[in-house]
Amino acid sequence: MSPSTSPSPNAISSPRPFTYANGRLTCSGADLTELAERFGTPLYVYSADAIRERVAMLQTEFSTVPHTICYAVKANSSLAILKLLGELGCGFDIVSGGELERVRRADPAALSRVVFSGVGKQIWEIDAALNADILLFNVESEAELELLATRAQALSKTARIALRVNPDVFAETHPYISTGLREHKFGIAIERAREVYRRAVQLPGIDPAGVSVHIGSQIRAVEPFAESLKRVRSLVEELRSDGLKIRFVDGGGGFGIEYGTAAFDPAARVAEYAAAIRMVLNGLDAHLLLEPGRFLVAQAGALLTRVLYTKQNGTKHFVITDAAMNDLIRPALYHAHHEILPVIADGRPSQTADIVGPVCETGDFFARDRLTPELRSGDLAVLLDAGAYGMSLASHYNTRVHPAEVLIEAGHPRLIRRRETLDDLLAAELL
Ligand code: LLP
Repeated sequence: MSPSTSPSPNAISSPRPFTYANGRLTCSGADLTELAERFGTPLYVYSADAIRERVAMLQTEFSTVPHTICYAVKANSSLAILKLLGELGCGFDIVSGGELERVRRADPAALSRVVFSGVGKQIWEIDAALNADILLFNVESEAELELLATRAQALSKTARIALRVNPDVFAETHPYISTGLREHKFGIAIERAREVYRRAVQLPGIDPAGVSVHIGSQIRAVEPFAESLKRVRSLVEELRSDGLKIRFVDGGGGFGIEYGTAAFDPAARVAEYAAAIRMVLNGLDAHLLLEPGRFLVAQAGALLTRVLYTKQNGTKHFVITDAAMNDLIRPALYHAHHEILPVIADGRPSQTADIVGPVCETGDFFARDRLTPELRSGDLAVLLDAGAYGMSLASHYNTRVHPAEVLIEAGHPRLIRRRETLDDLLAAELL
């Protein structure tokens, strides 16, 4: 999957579906210049094959363990992508009634494979999930547990629950997306969990069926996952000795990728991750749930953009694109790195530039002092690894419409979200 002819210095050797063919960038066989002409820019482009490949990697490595991959909808909640993942047998990790509705529309049969996480579930969301008979509620507080019991009784339902325990494990990642320490708002301290399960057993409408954990996102080391599941395993054994029938262990999401040019072999990394988890849970006899988001979709997608202008301010050279922080906020919000490639590789000399959007904030940048082949007005470029937390975090800031999205299937593009119009954007407003 490495590019056949890729321009220096941004040579990408990692397994992304974006490769050069005769100097033109393609996505799984679709020509990006043609996509830009046909669908306009900014445009999110995803490869269905690349998503399938990542799902297969996980399924293969966990094939000896009863498991369900519950894709974290928040990473990319496009209906067509959810449908694709549902067809591959995935379940879904949701965090809102809105995400539940997306699963219902994309693949109603997959509602039975939904786990519902989140620290602030509202009554209407709980009711909708109870009525949909989802697989598991990941309960994050005692107050939520009491409310869930009340709602389950009112609706004559039984809610299978897991307490989301906070294992107090440190995971090296950006502070905004680390969640597994006692000081974070997530979950119930693991030391208190046994007591809360005792309460859960007494509550009508509640079936304490599992234990769940999620320690953060973009975690590249395997050890924090193993360490937190070790603590979860001990808890499961204690709970079982208390007489509870714990059948599910939800290991959460968070398995990271490489955004830069460092070598990244996803299959090898998954093998390492899965081996560690299998070892920790060996012989436990529980159904394993995993909630990957980024790992499945990030590298399958890119944001295609056109250069509007270039300019020189003092010593700084700026490349101004038609995509902005409202389309892809990760660089502005987390100082995240996304590789940027020209769509036509014609051997131009490289240039150092700030690559920025048109939004009226200095924080609206995609890259600072980045060396890329010179980008001129009218050129197309892509921001790689934008398939996760790209479109799902897009906003209307500066009254800019959401980009369109295209899914490449067997070399053919399919529009999965048309470009918004200003009428769409303004439709809910009242004068
Ligand atoms: N499960 C739960 C309970 C989560 O909170 C998350 C992500 C996931 C699963 C999926 O994590 P993943 O496998 O995608 O790492 N916007 C940030 C990432 C926020 C992650 C929030 N929770 C970013 O762009 O890096």
